[in-house]
Amino acid sequence: MEKKRLGVLVSGRGSNLQALIDASKKDDYPAKVVVVVSNNPEAYAIERAKKENIPVYIVKREDYKSKKEYEEKIREILIEYKVDLVVLAGYMKIIGKTLLDAFPWKIINIHPSLLPSFPGLEAQKKAWEYGVKISGCTVHFVDEGIDSGPIIGQRAVPVYDDDTPETLADRILQEEHKLIVESVKKILTEEYEIVGRRVVFKKKGAENI
Ligand code: GRF
Repeated sequence: MEKKRLGVLVSGRGSNLQALIDASKKDDYPAKVVVVVSNNPEAYAIERAKKENIPVYIVKREDYKSKKEYEEKIREILIEYKVDLVVLAGYMKIIGKTLLDAFPWKIINIHPSLLPSFPGLEAQKKAWEYGVKISGCTVHFVDEGIDSGPIIGQRAVPVYDDDTPETLADRILQEEHKLIVESVKKILTEEYEIVGRRVVFKKKGAENI
């Protein structure tokens, strides 16, 4: 099986990147990380990529006059590495038109809440403060909004009375690592359609029922 090629955009710790790298070491996993781009030169994700000999590029927004030029640089890298799918794994910038147009419905994001609740920054803390009893994580296609695109998959976790924002974030993160791996696999191996804002997976053989 020829593995599909993932380009991963990061800004920080990179534990979701690591989950994808670890998964890709299995022969039957359908994808591998071929390039990592970080907008933050301090991101620990950079070390993770280097350790695995994955090419890693630092592209800083401040080095470009406009968002367009910044994203054109990222686009050039992703095209050079012939990526099939772009994964935002803790990438802290909003994706603009240049990248959206270059990779239509080929950019996915992981977010640490059950969307559409708690989009944006510090989602785990917002969920904890709100007092929800269940939270979780979401993988979705990226559109022009913030954490607003069609949902590919979600995983739920309980919120306990003695949780802090940190213990809740840790519990969600464990599920994120599973969700990102299973979501990438699902969209690369299954047939689906985006209907309105719903991602509808076509079950094999369903047309014969
Ligand atoms: C994760 O919680 C992810 O959902 C959010 O940013 C965090 C990144 O963590 N978008 P890591 O860099 O993958 O460890």
